[in-house]
Amino acid sequence: MALIHTELCDIVGIKHPILQGGMGPYKTEALASAVANAGALGIISCIGMAATLIPEAAPLDAERLFGSDPPAVILQKSIEAVTKQTRSSRGVFGVNIPVASEFILASKMFVEQTIESCKSDSDTERALRVVVTSAGNPKSWSVLKDEGFIWAHVVPSVYHAKKAEQAGADVIVASGHEGGAHVSWDPVHSMVLVPEVAKAVKTPVVGAGGFCDGATLAAALCMGAVGIQMGTRFIATTESDFEPMWKQAILEREERQTLVGRGLFGPMRFLRNKRAEEIVEQTLEDLPNFFLGEPLDSNEKILDLERTGFNDLMDAKEDTALMFGGEVVGRIQDLPSTAELIESIVREASEVLEKVPNFVIRE
Ligand SMILES: Cc1cc2nc3c(=O)[nH]c(=O)nc-3n(C[C@H](O)[C@H](O)[C@H](O)COP(=O)(O)O)c2cc1C
Repeated sequence: MALIHTELCDIVGIKHPILQGGMGPYKTEALASAVANAGALGIISCIGMAATLIPEAAPLDAERLFGSDPPAVILQKSIEAVTKQTRSSRGVFGVNIPVASEFILASKMFVEQTIESCKSDSDTERALRVVVTSAGNPKSWSVLKDEGFIWAHVVPSVYHAKKAEQAGADVIVASGHEGGAHVSWDPVHSMVLVPEVAKAVKTPVVGAGGFCDGATLAAALCMGAVGIQMGTRFIATTESDFEPMWKQAILEREERQTLVGRGLFGPMRFLRNKRAEEIVEQTLEDLPNFFLGEPLDSNEKILDLERTGFNDLMDAKEDTALMFGGEVVGRIQDLPSTAELIESIVREASEVLEKVPNFVIRE
């Protein structure tokens, strides 16, 4: 099999320069294990686990999704499960911890649990190499490096990339506006963001938002990145933890069928359906306050739409279910296994990188 080996593979200890994005509300335990077993970086997602800690803000009936364990125990069990499922392949995985200000107590608790899990099990210590922080300020998370983790931080702009570099991040994930779920109000897409961030910082950069195949991996490398992070593409795989209805919705949507509206931690990109349209209508009604960083608890109507949207997701009500996804849905028409997907991406990227010089007519 052709290999695309980059600096990211050496930093993280993976075979292919591909990261799975953290994706709430699920724990993404099955997906993280499958991705790690296929030689890329699998990621456990923490955001949904914390819903019981912030009941006034939580749009999600957490007990229905996670049972009654406290959040730290949910994470501990997830780490144990992924450690077990990746033991024989010696796969590598990480944990995504959002560090938005509304979430900060939960962030600290998840960091402590991640450290604790590594200290108490040597297999976990070997496999759990990476923590990806996102959706907030990178300052004060360099403790992760002191604890021996590779620390990656997700940013939506050159300004934020420089902040992440100053804070000491080992890897910067530059996430363009076409990506699924949390995005920035400033609509800077990957084609502008990734090369500009790669130019602005010395830290290795991973492109996120719109990546799904070998051509886009090759494009990321051409833009100065050392790899890609994918969210939406990984949802539509046989092993992913997402509802069948959500996977099917991704296969059916074309590229114009996503919408950005106000979500729990700021703007989110949703798959277009009746619920997403209602959220966007409410967002527009409440403008311009959202642009000015209006606190979450003043957005009761939107929280209500989200709360019922998550429950409708679990009840498989397609029109009113809350489902996130990136513009890249327009490029996803199949449901492979993660191993098939990763293999085809790497094979195609290496073909593209070989062929492209032949397209160029030299004078
Ligand atoms: C359903 C869904 C949930 C997501 N949840 C999170 C999350 O909890 N934390 C995070 O850092 N990013 C989250 N993201 C963003 C992904 O990690 C990734 O950066 C993004 O999906 C990349 O863009 P793409 O969807 O075009 O691949 C989510 C994305 C999706 C589609």
